Amino acid sequence: MTANSTVLQDLPADLMRERLPRHVAVIMDGNGRWAKRRGMPRIMGHRRGVDVLKDLLRCCRDWGIEALTAYAFSTENWGRPVEEVEFLMTLFERVLRQELREMMQENVRIQFVGNLNALPKSLQEEIERSMAATQNNSGIRFTVATNYGGRQEIVQACRAIARKVEQGLLQPEQIDEALFERHLYTCGTCDPDLLIRTSGEMRISNFLLWQMAYAEIYVTDTLWPDFDRKEFHQALCDYQQRERRFGKL
Ligand code: FPP
Repeated sequence: MTANSTVLQDLPADLMRERLPRHVAVIMDGNGRWAKRRGMPRIMGHRRGVDVLKDLLRCCRDWGIEALTAYAFSTENWGRPVEEVEFLMTLFERVLRQELREMMQENVRIQFVGNLNALPKSLQEEIERSMAATQNNSGIRFTVATNYGGRQEIVQACRAIARKVEQGLLQPEQIDEALFERHLYTCGTCDPDLLIRTSGEMRISNFLLWQMAYAEIYVTDTLWPDFDRKEFHQALCDYQQRERRFGKL
């Protein structure tokens, strides 16, 4: 059996293969609340959140979705209690170390977007290692936004372009949307078609501001640690009902 026939078999019968999003982005909200409701420390919600993300990645791969992007840590998240920030940094590092072998086996290509230089050195090393090891994998593209802010991303792109203009490498008239996109962290990945946000909040919270221009937004009250394949299936059914006009009639 080929990998492709597996994909077709696994896709639920009520989903149309030709109308699947190519790229799904997720804001994984509600970990803290999930833990609190169970009388557990917030970090337990993050821990459980990792398992949910792993399963979603696998599900996207099984169903033939090309790219998944997850908002793991925003530029604003440094404002959380220091113990929680430290826990998250250690968690990212540990998960990367533990999952690399499986990502290779499953042909996942992982990349990180954000201001990575500000992350702990040991995490930066793990990030570099995982990106280098998986860069030639041809399966699903998994992007993790870490110390990421949409406004910050746009500002850094402006700076890079301004520098080229200053050096005479570029004329201002040559700056168009395609050139601008090439200076974003996400260069090379198609824009998200579907943004899923858990835990009921109706915001995009500085996530992929440029790239989200025409994304369909799906918000569920379910907290991230409870977001399972059934919920994802529901989000995709909803997405397939949408009429995407991209500003046209
Ligand atoms: C938001 O819930 C969640 C986060 C800020 C962290 C999400 C990170 C993960 C699930 C780990 C991903 C790991 C890798 C390696 C990609 P919250 O804490 O804001 O929840 P609350 O709104 O209930 O307080």
